Amino acid sequence: MRIDVITLFPEVIEAGTSYSIVGRAREWGLVHIRAIQLRDFAEGKHKKTDDEPYGGGAGLVMKPEPIARAVEFCQPTPNTRIVLLEPQGRLYTQAYARELAAQSHLVLICGHYEGVDARIREHLATDVISIGDYVLTGGELPALIVIDSVVRLIPGAIHSPESLEQDSFADGLLGYPQYTRPEVFRGWRVPSVLLSGNHGAIARWRRKEQLRLTRLLRPDLFATACLTAEDVELLRELHAEGQL
Ligand SMILES: C[S@@+](CC[C@H](N)C(=O)[O-])C[C@H]1O[C@@H](n2cnc3c(N)ncnc32)[C@H](O)[C@@H]1O
Repeated sequence: MRIDVITLFPEVIEAGTSYSIVGRAREWGLVHIRAIQLRDFAEGKHKKTDDEPYGGGAGLVMKPEPIARAVEFCQPTPNTRIVLLEPQGRLYTQAYARELAAQSHLVLICGHYEGVDARIREHLATDVISIGDYVLTGGELPALIVIDSVVRLIPGAIHSPESLEQDSFADGLLGYPQYTRPEVFRGWRVPSVLLSGNHGAIARWRRKEQLRLTRLLRPDLFATACLTAEDVELLRELHAEGQL
């Protein structure tokens, strides 16, 4: 997979993709990440990438021409996903990350100031992504979030891919709680079932915890989750135990 990031701050992208799983995936050649300096595609002595908004108002807007030239430099094919990061975009989710992880080429465009000239969204971007209902100063952190979530899904990037199946959202529910040594920490014990060696009982407890936590913490997710007959039975138990 190739990921090109168009940004005024390539060093942020470099730093954010040089360590841990993403850094290793780069070293192993599973993903090629390029941070492209937008200013290199601006014209004139001052290499201006922004200007005042038409219609007046506060702040500056990023000009469309340097962005369009930078996108062309990335040599997009009809299959390339050209992603503009903007708070007005489609909300980013694990399902969206899976969709992007199946692509061979992503171009991520990082905005700044008051955002990007709307013609980039209207005519050039294939996707507009928001990472949440809040406003950051620039698109670099959102781009890093997209990169991190996508790269860990590339086959080979994670040592034990089965851990991806245990992640929150993998099956529409939150993940189950995890514990490690020591067995007792400050008097707080690990749930005894996890020490029992009974794999069936452990799997049942974990599923029950997924259902309980999702129901309590994320009723929105719970409302759309696909439940099995065993899940319904576990939910009955949780109700009977007064846990829901
Ligand atoms: C200050 S924001 C622009 C906000 C814009 N004026 C608005 O109200 O929607 C500057 C840039 O940060 C990035 N950004 C900020 N918040 C974001 C979010 N929640 N999701 C994705 N990108 C975001 C975008 O690239 C955006 O162009």
